[in-house]
Amino acid sequence: MRIVLLGAPGSGKGTQSQRLVQRHGVPQISTGDLLRAAVKAGSPLGVHTKAIMDAGKLVDDETMLGIIRERLAQPDARQGFILDGFPRTIAQAQGLTQLLGELGTPLEAVVLMDVDYDKLVKRISGRRSCTHCGRVFNIHTAPPPPEGCCAAPHLVQRPDDQEETVAKRLAVYDEQTKPLVAHYGAQGLLRMIDADAPMEEVTHRLEAALAERDGRGIEVVE
Ligand code: AP5
Repeated sequence: MRIVLLGAPGSGKGTQSQRLVQRHGVPQISTGDLLRAAVKAGSPLGVHTKAIMDAGKLVDDETMLGIIRERLAQPDARQGFILDGFPRTIAQAQGLTQLLGELGTPLEAVVLMDVDYDKLVKRISGRRSCTHCGRVFNIHTAPPPPEGCCAAPHLVQRPDDQEETVAKRLAVYDEQTKPLVAHYGAQGLLRMIDADAPMEEVTHRLEAALAERDGRGIEVVE
């Protein structure tokens, strides 16, 4: 499986990627998670990108392509990958095509996860993640278990999930990322699902969209 999950902030890319990881045994590559890890570690990359992320803007294409090149070179990505949050601009998409061409592993499908923007804002405002185990919850739709998510639960809100930053992120998505819909549509790679449904149902729709991509389906690891 070599796919991209495309969608606005809060559309469920991360949630569904984690479910696909369990079922298909390929890694989730989330550029947002990679950047947040760099910020947490205080690395030069983290120092460079923190203010950009907190403002809801995009990190520059050259930096992002460098991160993806490095990540795709790791052994686990040879089995396939789920790209979550990358590419986000036409330049990133072109760079990815070139990189995957060099590796001889072209994309198989791009799935657009469609949710109305008013619903997205509500989802994002309710998101909390655990700084200890990394799991993502939602105080409205997917609360953590009463006994806690791990041995040392500590739920926090992402700095870029403040309401005014979310509005900026949605505007950036419209302007810079939405053109990828036409880009991948023209290549015959695009599938679209209505992702405004309970998580289990969205997973079902996603699997159905992936299965139809070439008429053969994708191997499921049980
Ligand atoms: P990133 O972390 O990628 O953020 P994003 O794309 O804005 O996506 P989110 O993580 O907000 O949402 P999601 O679609 O994963 O939704 P989730 O599953 O969590 O990027 C952050 C920043 O990093 C960017 O703004 C940018 O600065 C930088 N960056 C990253 N990649 C970059 C790139 N390629 N180029 C340049 N800069 C880059 O779900 C959201 C909430 O809803 C959760 O609480 C979840 O529990 C809940 N939920 C999920 N599904 C459902 C459902 N079906 N029903 C009800 N609730 C649901």
